Amino acid sequence: MIASGESTVAPAYFLRRLLMTRLNSLALVERCTDKLIMKDFLAEADIPMTAYTPAKKSLDLKRVSKELKLPLVLKDRKNSGGRGTIVSSNLEEIEKNLSADRLLEKYVNAPEASVESFIHDRKILFTNMTQYFKKGEVNIVPANFKKAEINRILELNAKVLEALKIKWGVTHLEVYRSKIGPLFGEIALRPPGGYIMDLISLSYGFNAWEAFLDLEMGLAPQVKRPNDLYSAAVLLHPGEGTLLKITGWEKVLANSAVVKHRLKVKEGERIGPRKAVSEEVGHISLRASFHPALIDAVSAVEESLKFSIRKDNQ
Ligand SMILES: Nc1ncnc2c1ncn2[C@@H]1O[C@H](COP(=O)(O)OP(=O)(O)OP(=O)(O)O)[C@@H](O)[C@H]1O
Ligand SMILES: [Mg+2]
Repeated sequence: MIASGESTVAPAYFLRRLLMTRLNSLALVERCTDKLIMKDFLAEADIPMTAYTPAKKSLDLKRVSKELKLPLVLKDRKNSGGRGTIVSSNLEEIEKNLSADRLLEKYVNAPEASVESFIHDRKILFTNMTQYFKKGEVNIVPANFKKAEINRILELNAKVLEALKIKWGVTHLEVYRSKIGPLFGEIALRPPGGYIMDLISLSYGFNAWEAFLDLEMGLAPQVKRPNDLYSAAVLLHPGEGTLLKITGWEKVLANSAVVKHRLKVKEGERIGPRKAVSEEVGHISLRASFHPALIDAVSAVEESLKFSIRKDNQ
């Protein structure tokens, strides 16, 4: 019983308890799946993060909005993929959506990154840093940030894992690369989405999914570093509407940096709104020996691929 996605972390815990298999503590599962419990616990452990407050109905929103400033971020305590997250300066809209199941955060205006850790026997065997090159659209592995920034982010990651006392598994920690230093976003006790596991496999030359299964079974996986390749995943979603035409797909396939591709829609089909990051209509994985070459290949793919969409009201 192994959880590979956010919605299965808590159910897998309860099923494992029934099956009497190796278990994390319920406290750890809650700290990694409920953003409010997570932040309360990690704030106590001096982890830097943006200001937040429980979003209960009785909240004095006028006072809180003065403290946290606008826009505010209202999000579900338990959810993923950005589902249900509202970023708004409209206090009426926020007020309407206040709920004990949500929290309110100060908006952070900074690029983002994530750290994936492979943990065995309480030790971090391997970490990867992912650059959210275009949030929700392009992920790059590994991030090519300056050494000093990488070290600060890795220190933050190690401090979070230490505070949570994670014994095994793959974790996915998100950070905001703020000017004053990395700010903790959230941590998940499961592999990342956004094809990051595939990118780890492509860049480092070991199968990240196999390594994940090894960790879950209590085995030490073969993980390699340092990496010698860069890889990127381009997640496709042209917006809601009817897909009239796709052009440039052959050009994408002819690009020598493209190593994997999948298109899940056909011309004439209706594409729904992207309610979560995972609701893409296809993706393209690319690999290159150098970061600039990878960026060039990503741009070439983006420039050649065109989706023509008819919006519902047109
Ligand atoms: N306080 C904030 N300031 C700025 N942006 C935010 C904030 N909170 C959330 N976001 C934006 O929304 C995204 C999703 O938020 P968050 O990670 O909290 O929710 P999630 O549902 O777990 O999403 P995911 O599963 O994609 O990580 C963040 O990666 C970020 O881009
Ligand atoms: Mg997140």
